[in-house]
This record gives sequence, C-alpha cells and structure tokens, in this order.
Amino acid sequence: MLTIEGVSAGYAGVAVLRDVSLVVPSSSVVALLGPNGAGKTTLLRVASGLLRPAAGRVTLDGADVTGLAPHQLAARGLCHVPEGRGVFPPLTVRENLVLFSAPGAEKAAIERALDVFPKLAERLEQSAGTMSGGEQQMLALARAYISGAPVILLDEVSMGLAPVVVDAIFEFLERVAREGTSLLIVEQYVNKALAIADYTYILGRGRITFAGDASELVDEDVFHRYLGIEVSAGATP
Ligand SMILES: Nc1ncnc2c1ncn2[C@@H]1O[C@H](COP(=O)(O)OP(=O)(O)O)[C@@H](O)[C@H]1O
Ligand SMILES: [Mg+2]
Repeated sequence: MLTIEGVSAGYAGVAVLRDVSLVVPSSSVVALLGPNGAGKTTLLRVASGLLRPAAGRVTLDGADVTGLAPHQLAARGLCHVPEGRGVFPPLTVRENLVLFSAPGAEKAAIERALDVFPKLAERLEQSAGTMSGGEQQMLALARAYISGAPVILLDEVSMGLAPVVVDAIFEFLERVAREGTSLLIVEQYVNKALAIADYTYILGRGRITFAGDASELVDEDVFHRYLGIEVSAGATP
C-alpha cells in the first residue's frame, strides 16, 4: 500500500501541491484525475522520489519513504512510468527489457514482456528510439510489468496514441490489475480510467477536490464541475 499524507510540494519555492493526501490500497486501481496544470505529475514525482515534498510524508507498506531516492523506491517495489516515453532510445528493445529484469532471469522476463505485448517480438533487436510512439509506450509498460513491482504509477501513458494502441494499453492495465498489482493512473481518457478504477481522486489547483468511488462520478455535472470538460468531449471517448 502507498500513502501520501498531507503533502505540500512545488518548484523553486512556488507551491503546487497543498496538503494532499491519497491512498493506493494493495491490489487496487486508483485514478488521479484533474485539469492540466493541477499538479498530477508533480504528485507522482513526489510519490516516486523524484521531487522531495516541502511537507508531509509518503509511506510504502507502512514504512516512511519520504525523501528516498527514486532508485531506492524502485528497489522497494514502486515503479513510475513517466510522462512521455520512459525508454532508453539508443538501446534495443531487448536491452531495454534486460535492464529491468532480475539478473539471471532475463530470458523469462523477455518472454513475459512479449506475452503482454506480442508486437514487441518483431522489434527485439531494433533500437527503441526508432519505434513508433505506441511501440515505445508498450515497451515502457512491458518494462514496468517485468520489473514485478507491486505498485505502478502511470502518467498519461495513452497520451497522443492511436485508438487501437490506447485499447491495447487499457487491456494491459486491466490484466495487470487482475494479477494484483496496485495502479495509480493519471489519464486523459477519463471514462476509460474510471471503468477500471476502484477509487478516484480529483486534483484541482494542487488540492484534492473529490475523493470517492468511481461510480459516484457518472453524473455529468460532477464531471463538468471538477474537470471542466463535457463527458462527450474528445478527451473522454
Ligand atoms: N519543473 C517544473 N518547474 C517549475 N514549475 C513546474 C515544473 N513542472 C511543473 N510545474 C508547474 O507545476 C504546476 C503543476 O504541473 P503538473 O504537476 O505537471 O500538472 P499536471 O500533471 O496536472 O498537468 C503547473 O503550474 C506547472 O507549470
Ligand atoms: Mg502531467
């Protein structure tokens, strides 16, 4: 279980998050929604150790991990798939996968990666940077999967991708969730995120403005009020 407790954070003295608390229980999917600039990426950065909070704490399975470095949090089972493509472009797909495999278990890890995204099979010896955006994102997600991390943070992983790739990504997320991995999902595809989420938080200007079951958010007014978007708008197919 991951908890964020009373976190305030920002950049160069400019406050972005104010007293934010959020819980990602074991084996559950939590959606973190909110308009652009609300602080969603900043919150994930605090959770994974990329940004040290000015106040508050982060715990993982009950242990205070506030201020630990990203690699220390990764070693404790927290994986962050960042905004953009979190792959190493000059390395091949195989090399990217090996980096996230346990030593000695590379072969099995690559098999697991190809099982979730079979499309990567024909790309194993290609450098990651020469693949399409969708393929690079599949690689980033496959790496998160084979890392075996029990908690994965996903920052807009479907952004800018073709609908067929977006569908493949959500199928992957459902599968990983079914297997018991906890997910904290930041998504523009609000309806798709709500469909797989157990709990939802909405962030507005650095504060939590809604916390509750995804099912409470089916009301269009709530959607519009919190997110400033229409349910039928392009961002929520
Ligand atoms: N590296 C940075 N330095 C300074 N300000 C930043 C930085 N990253 C984000 N911000 C600011 O923090 C606020 C929240 O950004 P962000 O967490 O990226 O929001 P979201 O992911 O919800 O769109 C925005 O006002 C943004 O301009
Ligand atoms: Mg963001």
